[in-house]
Amino acid sequence: MNNFAIGIIGGTGGIGKWFADFFNGEGHRVLVSGRTKGPSISEITTLCRVVIVAVPIAATLDVIRKAGPLLSEDALLMDLTSLKEEPVREMLASSPAEVIGCHPLFGPDVLSMNGQNIVLCPVRGGGWLGFLQEIFVKNGARITVTAPAEHDRMMALIQGLTHLDTILMELSLRDSGVEPSELDAFSTPIFRTKQAISAKVFGPRPGLYASLLVENPNMPTLLAIFEQNFALVKELIRQGDASGIEALLKRPKRP
Ligand SMILES: NC(=O)c1ccc[n+]([C@@H]2O[C@H](COP(=O)([O-])OP(=O)(O)OC[C@H]3O[C@@H](n4cnc5c(N)ncnc54)[C@H](OP(=O)(O)O)[C@@H]3O)[C@@H](O)[C@H]2O)c1
Repeated sequence: MNNFAIGIIGGTGGIGKWFADFFNGEGHRVLVSGRTKGPSISEITTLCRVVIVAVPIAATLDVIRKAGPLLSEDALLMDLTSLKEEPVREMLASSPAEVIGCHPLFGPDVLSMNGQNIVLCPVRGGGWLGFLQEIFVKNGARITVTAPAEHDRMMALIQGLTHLDTILMELSLRDSGVEPSELDAFSTPIFRTKQAISAKVFGPRPGLYASLLVENPNMPTLLAIFEQNFALVKELIRQGDASGIEALLKRPKRP
C-alpha cells in the first residue's frame, strides 16, 4: 500500500498541516485543502485513498457528511478531532470506507511525534490500521487503540479538567484588579509555568478549547465532582481549617 495519495481536509493550517508535513516527510503525496484553498472535497475524495478530516470541531460533522459518501470501501476515512464519539459515529453512518478515529495528543507546536501519544479508534475494516501503526511507531509515537467512548471519557479528565482549571484561574486573575505587568516581579516558577499554559488556552484557538468543554458528554459529571471539591475546600478555607486541608492533601486515592 505505498502508491496512494493522502488528502487532508483542513490541511492548510493547524494540526492538519502538521500531519501533511509529516506524511510528506514519509514520502507520501499529500493534497491539502481549507475553506478557500486547495482541491474541493470531491476532488480530494477522487484523488486520495486516505482522506483525513482535520477541520475545527464545529465544522467536522458537516465535512464528514460531504466527504464520507464519496469514498469507496477500500479507502480510509479518518479524522483528527479531539473528541471521538460523534465524528466516528458520523463517519460510520455517512461512508462505506474503512473508518479510524485518530486523536494525536499533541499540538502543531511539537517538532516531531517522538515520545508523543496517539489514540486510534479503528471501527471499520482492518486494512489501513497496520499502515498507520507502523508509520507512527517508526516515528516514536506511543499508540493506544481504544473505543471512542473510552477516549472521550479520558479526555474529559485529561483535557476538560485541565482547561477548565486554566480558564478559571486566568479569569480570576483578570478579575482580581491586579495588572499583569505587576505580577511578573512576584512570580514563582510554578506560576510562570501556569501562565504559559494560560497563554495557549487564551491564544488564537479559543474555539478549540470551548468545544472541548462543551462537546464532551462526560463533562457534566466531572463538573459536579469539581463543584463538590471546590465547595469543600472553600468551606475549609472559610473556617481557617488548615489541618482539614492538610488531611485532604494526605487523603489516599479513591478506590
Ligand atoms: N490544534 C491542536 O492542538 C489539535 C490537536 C489534536 C487534535 N486537534 C483537532 O484537529 C482539528 C483541527 O484543529 P486545529 O486546531 O488544527 O484547527 P485550525 O488551526 O483552526 O485549522 C483548521 C484547518 O481547517 C480548515 N478549515 C476551517 N474551517 C473549515 C471548513 N469549514 N471546511 C474546510 N476546512 C476548514 C482551515 O483552513 P483555512 O483556514 O484555509 O480555511 C485549517 O486548515 C480539530 O478537530 C481539533 O479538535 C487539534
